[in-house]
Amino acid sequence: MPNFINDYVIEIPEIDFDPTDPRWVELYQSVTFKEYPGWEGDGYPFQTCSTDVVQNSTLVQWYIEKFSFLDLRSSNYISTKTTPGDGGDAGARNSINQNTVKGTLIKGDLSVRSILPHVDATRTTGILFPLTFPQYVNFYKNEPNGNDPIYVHEYKPVITIINTASWHGVSQTAIGNPRYQLQLDCYNSWEEMSSLINTL
Ligand SMILES: [Fe+2]
Repeated sequence: MPNFINDYVIEIPEIDFDPTDPRWVELYQSVTFKEYPGWEGDGYPFQTCSTDVVQNSTLVQWYIEKFSFLDLRSSNYISTKTTPGDGGDAGARNSINQNTVKGTLIKGDLSVRSILPHVDATRTTGILFPLTFPQYVNFYKNEPNGNDPIYVHEYKPVITIINTASWHGVSQTAIGNPRYQLQLDCYNSWEEMSSLINTL
């Protein structure tokens, strides 16, 4: 059974995933990361890579196939000003190639600043493959106003689906940097995701 932690996080130990597999390290050490500017262009403390080197890796191909029962499409990750899914920023959604399914490697450095609370510009859920530890993500009940997160999740070495249509961010931290992940972007609602994932 998938582990439904709350309205923000589902862990899926049913699907094999070994972050200590040396092929992960080979992959993220072999690619060139680019600074992620953010949807408003104001920058975030991470870099991304979704080149053919990532797409063509047997690891990434295997997981894209494994999750092909979901609505996987590549996305713009971050906005503080739009709502996800069918609401919000039509321009952001229209800039996406609707037929593109991509895995994205992410290299974060949370030592200097945080990833500010946001909702993702277009995708509604993210399938996260945490590759280094420890790493965390914060969730907020509403748009935060100096409030503490309602839930802080510490990633385990399992595939983890997060609700990116809710407010979330990552605190500044001196440990766990650089922070590597693979992400698959997904457009199923949280309700759809909950029922679809239950069939695993
Ligand atoms: Fe996000």
